[in-house]
Amino acid sequence: MIKKIKIAKALNTYLPSMLLTVLLVFTTNSVLAEETTVDEVETEVNCLGCHQETQETPIHAIWQTPHGKVFGKSNQTCVACHGPSLEHGKVPRDNSPSLSFGPKWPSKFNEQSAVCLDCHEKGNQLMWLSGVHNDEELSCLSCHNIHDRIDDVLVRLEQSETCFTCHKSVQASAHMPSSHPILEGKTTCVDCHNPHGNISEHSLNEPTVNDTCFSCHAEKRGPFLFEHAPVAEECTICHKPHGSVNASLLKARGPFLCQQCHSAAFHPSVQHDGSGLANTGQGSEFLLGKNCLNCHSQIHGSNHPSGSRLTR
Ligand code: HEC
Ligand code: HEC
Ligand code: HEC
Ligand code: HEC
Ligand code: HEC
Ligand code: HEC
Ligand code: HEC
Ligand code: HEC
Ligand code: HEC
Ligand code: HEC
Repeated sequence: MIKKIKIAKALNTYLPSMLLTVLLVFTTNSVLAEETTVDEVETEVNCLGCHQETQETPIHAIWQTPHGKVFGKSNQTCVACHGPSLEHGKVPRDNSPSLSFGPKWPSKFNEQSAVCLDCHEKGNQLMWLSGVHNDEELSCLSCHNIHDRIDDVLVRLEQSETCFTCHKSVQASAHMPSSHPILEGKTTCVDCHNPHGNISEHSLNEPTVNDTCFSCHAEKRGPFLFEHAPVAEECTICHKPHGSVNASLLKARGPFLCQQCHSAAFHPSVQHDGSGLANTGQGSEFLLGKNCLNCHSQIHGSNHPSGSRLTR
């Protein structure tokens, strides 16, 4: 536990030493305990001696978070992220901690994330380095608040607020007449996306758009006796996942949605504009109620023996 400080001094650069810190902390606490001497204890920078809990500073809320519990109330907690900070410990006003993150000595986005990735390189964070947010020079701290007792981005109801600070167009969509219940907190961004990056397009949680949708709308998966080709291809051909002015998150309303592809189909190959509806008998029954769905109700696919036209 103390040995790491000596090693850190010897290496004289903080990054590798922090890796070691983490490594040693997790693997060799008990082994090293025997080698600890009083002298060595005194060489350790006493963060908590200066950054006291009595001080008017909010940083001590960290003890109520998982990070505060990893090492307990000790300097080791601080060192795990801020590094050994030897010079800072001697003349704090002139020297940055090894990694400050703070307002006085701003640090680079990739240096910030590197520290976190020492411990969080797996799981959801596995693809961070190849993800869009890393490409855009965001760091873990663009979303996470480490010293706060409650990290807002982990609270389902408030999570999207963090995302909305940058993703204004998504925010606008979420307010449209038809939308996923994002504002209500029933679905959140992370139900569909991994904000830490993923190999799939748009960092979706599943390999494809459709698989992502099926995770909640399983009934749309089929298999169907009669598939509707665009449905099997991609839900976003017709739907806007974040929100739409049209009902059911549709990209276009009524017959226009269908006529993007079916204008020259079985029905008269003219735009159905409704002009023939009044007593003229010009085939506009296909537009009754302005909607192809009046008859083709099984738009996502049919399992009815005679459902080939998606009418039942
Ligand atoms: C899990 C990583 C981590 C640990 C552990 C940690 N910090 Fe921090 N610290 C940060 C980050 C990140 C920031 C930047 C502000 C933020 O995101 O909360 C920060 C900011 C600070 C600041 C500047 C606050 C400001 O805004 O002026 C101080 C001072 C500080 N930490 C001291 C400490 C001390 C003392 C400890 C040990 C009790 C400690 N930190 C433990 C990551 C950590
Ligand atoms: C001798 C007292 C002292 C010790 C020991 C000390 N600090 Fe500080 N620290 C300060 C003071 C004073 C400041 C404010 C510097 C300023 O704003 O000019 C500060 C500022 C900071 C900041 C904010 C930097 C920023 O960019 O705003 C962080 C982070 C920090 N200390 C972490 C640590 C860590 C981690 C340790 C232990 C490894 C530590 N400190 C040990 C006195 C100390
Ligand atoms: C010394 C190793 C270590 C370092 C460095 C570290 N973490 Fe952690 N972190 C942990 C452990 C252990 C947990 C609790 C177990 C878990 O959830 O995986 C945790 C939990 C978390 C959580 C979940 C908190 C919660 O309330 O559930 C977040 C978010 C997180 N860390 C982000 C960060 C960020 C951002 C950084 C860099 C500023 C960082 N961590 C640095 C070890 C570390
Ligand atoms: C774009 C915002 C954003 C960024 C940037 C970000 N996170 Fe997160 N992080 C989140 C959200 C949102 C959650 C909650 C995920 C959930 O509930 O499934 C989360 C959850 C976590 C957790 C909790 C366990 C888990 O995986 O769900 C850890 C640990 C974590 N993040 C670490 C990191 C680290 C390390 C970085 C930097 C490499 C980072 N995060 C960058 C948004 C972000
Ligand atoms: C129901 C699933 C779902 C939810 C919830 C969701 N998204 Fe998406 N998101 C998608 C899909 C699918 C795409 C791909 C869009 C396409 O191909 O038209 C996408 C694309 C994106 C894009 C890139 C393209 C664009 O539209 O700018 C961003 C950024 C984005 N989402 C952010 C968010 C944020 C932020 C939230 C939370 C407020 C969120 N998403 C919630 C499914 C979702
Ligand atoms: C600090 C600003 C910022 C924050 C906060 C932020 N993002 Fe982003 N995000 C970006 C930028 C910049 C891009 C790249 C340009 C774009 O696609 O809009 C991006 C891209 C994305 C993409 C598209 C990925 C792709 O491959 O097309 C998704 C999805 C996304 N963000 C989701 C989220 C989610 C979810 C959150 C909240 C947990 C979030 N973002 C928070 C800045 C941010
Ligand atoms: C996390 C679960 C979840 C995922 C993933 C999901 N949805 Fe939803 N979806 C919902 C919920 C919840 C509703 C609202 C249901 C309600 O209000 O009865 C909904 C509603 C809808 C609606 C109807 C909206 C309306 O205004 O009536 C459509 C269309 C839809 N989703 C399409 C999609 C598509 C396309 C995808 C994939 C990009 C997707 N969903 C992914 C949970 C999800
Ligand atoms: C060819 C266009 C099209 C495609 C592609 C499509 N949908 Fe739809 N979807 C519609 C239409 C039209 C409605 C409105 C149905 C109504 O009003 O009866 C709808 C309604 C919905 C609804 C809400 C009503 C319900 O039936 O539950 C959900 C959920 C939905 N779609 C999910 C999906 C999913 C998931 C996919 C991808 C597997 C998908 N859609 C692909 C056209 C499409
Ligand atoms: C992106 C293009 C596209 C859109 C939009 C679209 N379809 Fe289709 N639809 C197709 C394709 C491709 C087929 C398969 C044609 C085939 O097998 O010959 C098909 C098949 C059909 C069939 C069955 C025809 C048959 O020969 O079995 C019906 C009925 C149908 N669509 C109705 C609709 C309706 C109603 C809408 C609007 C809600 C719609 N489609 C939207 C592309 C589309
Ligand atoms: C009044 C009911 C009704 C309405 C409204 C309607 N259809 Fe149909 N449609 C049918 C029936 C019935 C068939 C099957 C005819 C047959 O198999 O002989 C069919 C067949 C089709 C086919 C298959 C054509 C083929 O070549 O086999 C397509 C594509 C189609 N409709 C698209 C649409 C579109 C697009 C709209 C809206 C503009 C629409 N339908 C509105 C009843 C309707």
